[in-house]
Amino acid sequence: MDLPRSAALARLVVLERTASTNDELAAIASESDEFTVVLTTEQTAGRGRLGRQWIAPPGEALAASVLLRPDRERVGASGHGWLPLLAGLAMARSIGALVDRDVSLKWPNDVLVDGRKACGVLAELEPDGSVVLGSGVNLTIPADRLPTPVSTSLALCGARERGDELVDRVLAGYLRELRGLYGALLAARGDARASGLAAAVADRCSTLGREVRVELPGGRRARGLALGIDADGRLEVRVHADGRVLAVSAGDVTHLRYE
Ligand code: BTN
Repeated sequence: MDLPRSAALARLVVLERTASTNDELAAIASESDEFTVVLTTEQTAGRGRLGRQWIAPPGEALAASVLLRPDRERVGASGHGWLPLLAGLAMARSIGALVDRDVSLKWPNDVLVDGRKACGVLAELEPDGSVVLGSGVNLTIPADRLPTPVSTSLALCGARERGDELVDRVLAGYLRELRGLYGALLAARGDARASGLAAAVADRCSTLGREVRVELPGGRRARGLALGIDADGRLEVRVHADGRVLAVSAGDVTHLRYE
């Protein structure tokens, strides 16, 4: 692949095909520098959040994983909690530069274009403390091959680029934003509010102010109003059933349209 913009921003490991770029990067993490990127447009066993599969037709989607080494002493637990949101925001900004549509973040890190999912992020903590940030972007998937009824692709949303040019623009925009946001978070010692990250995420996040259904990892469900994002990056939801505010750190959030 010819990716000059991205190659100027990070070391790229380009694979014709792989099972999962997150797994590939995890396998070489100990001997790789921060911001090493493993990418492909053909991922055969992609993993999504909450143990789901991530499916994309070969050649029509980007799978890219970026290595971060946030020093836990410096970034703190709160700063760590913001990394998936940071990645989602970076991708939302990159995609927003390519399509003339409403590009928002669904907490914690789905990128929606006009309310449909164009990108998902899977952040995984490795045993040595490094973090693998994996993003799957639907590039040119036509309507009849979209993986779910709520998906979309950049081509369907008006992106004009194709092939390597589209991959390079998405990835380079993402890496540039990621470096800037991550650098600011480190400089603020992991304080997302002081670094401006919290405000920037809240600004992009279409979950806030919405009626949502939350499915928690243990199988518990709740409906309520998404109020905000707390200092650790958790979604605060006022639960209708009991009026309490629930801080959601992991779980599936559905935007409800008609409540
Ligand atoms: C989600 O929305 O559930 C997250 C999807 C994350 C998919 C990406 S594709 C690149 C990286 N490798 C994987 O196996 N998963 C992530």
